[in-house]
Amino acid sequence: MEQQRKRCFSAIQPTGQINIGGYLGAVKNWIKLQEEFDCIYAVADLHSITVRQDPALLRRNSLEMIAVLLACGIDADKHLLFLQSHVPAHTQLAWVLDCYTMYGELGRMTQFKDKSAKNADNINAGLFTYPALMAADILLYQTDVVPVGEDQRQHLELTRIIAKRFNSVYGDVFTVPEGKIPEVGAKVRSLADPTKKMSKSDENENACVNLLDPRDVIIRKFKRAVTDSEACVRYAEGKDGINNLMSIYSAFTDKSYEQIEREFEGRGYGEFKLAVAETVADGLKPIQERFCAYMSDKAQLQQICRDSAARADALAQKTLRKVYKKVGFAV
Ligand code: TRP
Repeated sequence: MEQQRKRCFSAIQPTGQINIGGYLGAVKNWIKLQEEFDCIYAVADLHSITVRQDPALLRRNSLEMIAVLLACGIDADKHLLFLQSHVPAHTQLAWVLDCYTMYGELGRMTQFKDKSAKNADNINAGLFTYPALMAADILLYQTDVVPVGEDQRQHLELTRIIAKRFNSVYGDVFTVPEGKIPEVGAKVRSLADPTKKMSKSDENENACVNLLDPRDVIIRKFKRAVTDSEACVRYAEGKDGINNLMSIYSAFTDKSYEQIEREFEGRGYGEFKLAVAETVADGLKPIQERFCAYMSDKAQLQQICRDSAARADALAQKTLRKVYKKVGFAV
């Protein structure tokens, strides 16, 4: 008999478009993990409201994020892809876990400190207890592995502490998950300032290439990418701009840095930038076409995520019922 596959859970916030950094750093990895694990992927709309959102925009971004993930290759038939708010058990478990998470622990979270500084007029309780909701997302599904970026490492560590604390009181209720943090160096950098991470909030609009950017926009942005004055395509310290372009080109072509150096020997940066731009545009084209197809049928899109949510709910209920029983809620 086939052994049951291990479970993988991750979530992404529906804050606008994904850029090629998020695609190469996170989404492509999510796609790959489907080969090895039973994957459960959520769009974390509950987490999003810890900072003020425009309701119409949040709704649109949430559905678009589902469409983008499907277009990139998440298989919602074999795995799960849903909106976090569609599965009430996330909020229900979060409340219980709030009571097993310490005030001091939450106060030490660097993301809480950063976001409090940025949103000084809205330091709400949700922003504070955000990691307990994230722990609920993960622990509800008896998750074995959690692919996350470096910025979520501390939250994952706290999830493990909460799980162990709960287990030490009530027995083995939760699987203690392992984080899967991509190795450093794979990070895509801003085209305008390659010392910074590529980010949609960059004030320079040429800094960031979005997954859904049209071809001409992609080409314009790469043409303006900051490089250096050496005029030699090689990967080396101090050549942040070229290194970044090489790593993007490598990710889209699977070519090694040596292969790229040979390919562009004696050719200028202009030619190299155009090659990177065209490769990225070609690579994104099928994703963009599938995205448009999904967006052209909203009813079907909603059906896909409602379907996944129903299956997720069934799994989540098992854990939630166990937890309710353990803490002493009467049946
Ligand atoms: N907090 C994560 C982020 O902002 C998103 C998220 C929510 C998440 N719940 C999760 C990630 C559970 C991994 C596991 O990126």
